[in-house]
Amino acid sequence: MKKSQLAETAIDRIEKVFGRHQGYRRAHARGKSYRARFTATGSASELTTASHLQKGESRAFVRFSHFSPDPTWADAMSPVKGMAVQFELANGEATNIVGVTSPIFFAKTPEIFTEMLGVAKSFKKGKPSITELAGLLKDYPESGAMLNNIRKMQAPASFATGQYNSVHAFYFIGLNGQRRPIKYVWEPEGEVETLSPLDAVKLPVGSFEADIEDRIAKGPVNFRLDVILGQPEDPVDDPTKEWPDDREKLTIGYLAIVEEAPEADEIVFDPTLVTEGIACSEDRILNFRHDAYRISHQRRMSEQ
Ligand code: HEM
Repeated sequence: MKKSQLAETAIDRIEKVFGRHQGYRRAHARGKSYRARFTATGSASELTTASHLQKGESRAFVRFSHFSPDPTWADAMSPVKGMAVQFELANGEATNIVGVTSPIFFAKTPEIFTEMLGVAKSFKKGKPSITELAGLLKDYPESGAMLNNIRKMQAPASFATGQYNSVHAFYFIGLNGQRRPIKYVWEPEGEVETLSPLDAVKLPVGSFEADIEDRIAKGPVNFRLDVILGQPEDPVDDPTKEWPDDREKLTIGYLAIVEEAPEADEIVFDPTLVTEGIACSEDRILNFRHDAYRISHQRRMSEQ
């Protein structure tokens, strides 16, 4: 099957499992958008020629979200939260970093992702049970890591206190063309805070949005941008695998989220939109997301 055909099938199946929600993103349907300022430390300049990562400031647009494709799911039912950042470059271009509060993804390839959706029962009536998920994942050993993670996984206490991971590897490309594999991590200014599942179920729908609105009314919400530096033996094509804990990390910038913005319907936070000095890795899920996000954008815009 052609890549874009498979992406159509994947989006059809998301709609079948989670319902078709007119005008909404086909994943991470409910969210909130903000304007931000990014200050690069300059410490990445030997690794990449990307303009926003040279010492200095740029403007950015940020969208926090709950992972569910169904915007009516309670905040607690979407423990994985998203933070999508679009940097506005001086030459008018844009470049994205899209993160989630999990360090790994559950499917290694677009085919496995689409196949898993094909056998999933409809979640429209409620949250899938762990037994149901376990049954689904048992045929895909590499997805077991995600299942263990789901068991441990707790939602952050606030959008402002989550740690957000790019999951996929990218390459930084330096002045002489040298390539270094990296993964991005956004770290909150304070401690990473998680919610106990019991506290989470008590929260009314939209409490994460109300919380971040309150915080920003009092002052900027701040994050630090780190990159994990990959070693030659670290997989760059497998989003189900984390790199070893002892890999060197470099702080390359700080993000100050300053004011609310209208919901960014027209923006597609395509993770493959990268500027000169950065390249996508060979990860097939990463490259598949380009088509999937385009199709979701076309469908939701045609419904408005
Ligand atoms: C087969 C793999 C995946 C598929 C098919 C997929 C699909 C989608 C779709 C259709 C959207 C909505 C796009 C739009 O309408 O603008 C979306 C949004 C999003 N996805 Fe994925 N996704 C995949 C993997 C991932 C992974 C691995 C991450 C981890 C970083 C991720 C993080 C996000 C986030 C944070 C958003 C919200 C972006 C926003 O605020 O607009 N996705 N995804």
